[in-house]
Amino acid sequence: MAAQLWPEATDHAAETAELAGNPDSFTLLTETVQGSPCGFATISIRPYANGCASRPVGYLEGIWVREDLRRRGVGGQLLQRAEEQLAARGLTELASDVLLDNLISQGAHLAWGFSEAERVVCYCKPLARREEPGAASAGEPGRSAGMRPDPQLQGMGGLTPPPTRDLP
Ligand SMILES: CC(C)(COP(=O)(O)OP(=O)(O)OC[C@H]1O[C@@H](n2cnc3c(N)ncnc32)[C@H](O)[C@@H]1OP(=O)(O)O)[C@@H](O)C(=O)NCCC(=O)NCCS
Repeated sequence: MAAQLWPEATDHAAETAELAGNPDSFTLLTETVQGSPCGFATISIRPYANGCASRPVGYLEGIWVREDLRRRGVGGQLLQRAEEQLAARGLTELASDVLLDNLISQGAHLAWGFSEAERVVCYCKPLARREEPGAASAGEPGRSAGMRPDPQLQGMGGLTPPPTRDLP
């Protein structure tokens, strides 16, 4: 089921095991009367979330319902169970996020009682690989990033940012 919701993820078994060992995360499952799994919701507790006033907050990491059983309230029931568990832990808000093109989930969130808080653009930048201590240096770190070596700044790996100009 997780692979249906997160097809880009490669190791669902490892991620499931990681979540299972995390006391701040839980997954609710639902099944048909015949006992076949047909939906899940994964919840975590995050220190804070955009748009929420309280800390920490519950966070709907993912929710999925088998395609032929959608639009029958299964998602809403999963969410209801999640809310009850979070409230029992003393939390007062539940946050979530949805991709911009997932209009069905956006509609479901509104129907489930969420209000849109804000829209953000997510970024990712790969970090330069750090060499192992003692390994032979293949080049001077920092030069390509506009940084100059400063051996006294150990906490920054011996790098100091380029000088800044005072604002008028
Ligand atoms: C989003 C999803 C979990 C909703 O599950 P669900 O069991 O169908 O949700 P519910 O039956 O509780 O629907 C609640 C409300 O959401 C809205 N909604 C749900 N599906 C809808 C659809 N296809 N079109 C329009 N509105 C829809 C409706 O208002 C619905 O209430 P209504 O049926 O009384 O009109 C399900 O569509 C799904 O698994 N989608 C694929 C995975 C996904 O996108 N997950 C969310 C990632 S953020």
